[in-house]
Amino acid sequence: MSSQNGQQRSVPPGVRARIEAIKKIRKQEEMIKESMRKVKYKIAVLSGKGGVGKSFVTASLAFALAYMGKRVGVLDADIYGPSIPKMMGVPPGTVYGTEDGRLIPPTAPLGVKVLSVGLMLPQEDLPVIWRGPLSSSAIREMLAYAEWGELDYLLIDLPPGTGDEQLTIMQLIKDLTGVLIVTIPSDVSGVIVSKAVNFVRRLGANIIGIIENMSYFRCPDGSIHYIFGEGAGKKVAEKYNVRFLGEIPIDPRISRANDAGEPFFLKYPDSEASKAFLKIAGNVAEIVEGKSQNSMS
Ligand SMILES: Nc1ncnc2c1ncn2[C@@H]1O[C@H](COP(=O)(O)OP(=O)(O)OP(=O)(O)O)[C@@H](O)[C@H]1O
Ligand SMILES: [Mg+2]
Repeated sequence: MSSQNGQQRSVPPGVRARIEAIKKIRKQEEMIKESMRKVKYKIAVLSGKGGVGKSFVTASLAFALAYMGKRVGVLDADIYGPSIPKMMGVPPGTVYGTEDGRLIPPTAPLGVKVLSVGLMLPQEDLPVIWRGPLSSSAIREMLAYAEWGELDYLLIDLPPGTGDEQLTIMQLIKDLTGVLIVTIPSDVSGVIVSKAVNFVRRLGANIIGIIENMSYFRCPDGSIHYIFGEGAGKKVAEKYNVRFLGEIPIDPRISRANDAGEPFFLKYPDSEASKAFLKIAGNVAEIVEGKSQNSMS
């Protein structure tokens, strides 16, 4: 660097490192834009609270959209608990890298492309101990080098919560189509969903709608039991003027299938839950494909 009178001034190493880091991030952001260029709709799946079935909903919705004939990809952005590969029946160690460093996502049944840190780890039970900044750079790299090809939908399973990490990931995807919020029907969960709605709105992103999971349990005699309470999802949707996209019942076969690495949607296509996913996927497609853009909020 030269000063005004032509003398050379050296850049302190700390500043140089920072400049290099910013350059790298800029380049990655350009690469992310490029790798997403052929993806029509980018949808983040969010829940304020952990354990509400967000990953299961993401996986099943991906299969339901693919069943409807859409080209679908799933990005598991929850690097601490990457449960998507197992739920979608994709074994670890199946991501291929090209010579120029691109990542080729493996395909789950119905041709759904899946990318997850979980697929790059040699063993499934290896813990991922990354601090926040490291984890967001891992996601950035995954997004930058992903080779999605042409997709109609990319569903992004965010880590649970509405903090810095979720914010960073959502900001990486510049033209995010919208956000799906997953909840369960308890009042406590309803309060947390309110936070999620406000979080998304503060970011200026669209909310496609709210999905309620574990809404009820239907006994073999047909009677319905509201195990986790009733109607919080609908209530919050009404309060914030957001679409309610549908409810998914509790089914013990869901956790059994997920644990066994067998995609529930494909194993039990006639179940009430799978039918609910088809209905929700239809709702999502109708909203995002422009038929009722006005209802996004
Ligand atoms: N409708 C349902 N009926 C029965 N079990 C379900 C249902 N939905 C999800 N589960 C089970 O609940 C558990 C949590 O689901 P999942 O991992 O999808 O939640 P999550 O919100 O992604 O959790 P995390 O916050 O840890 O990422 C899993 O064991 C899953 O199989
Ligand atoms: Mg999850």
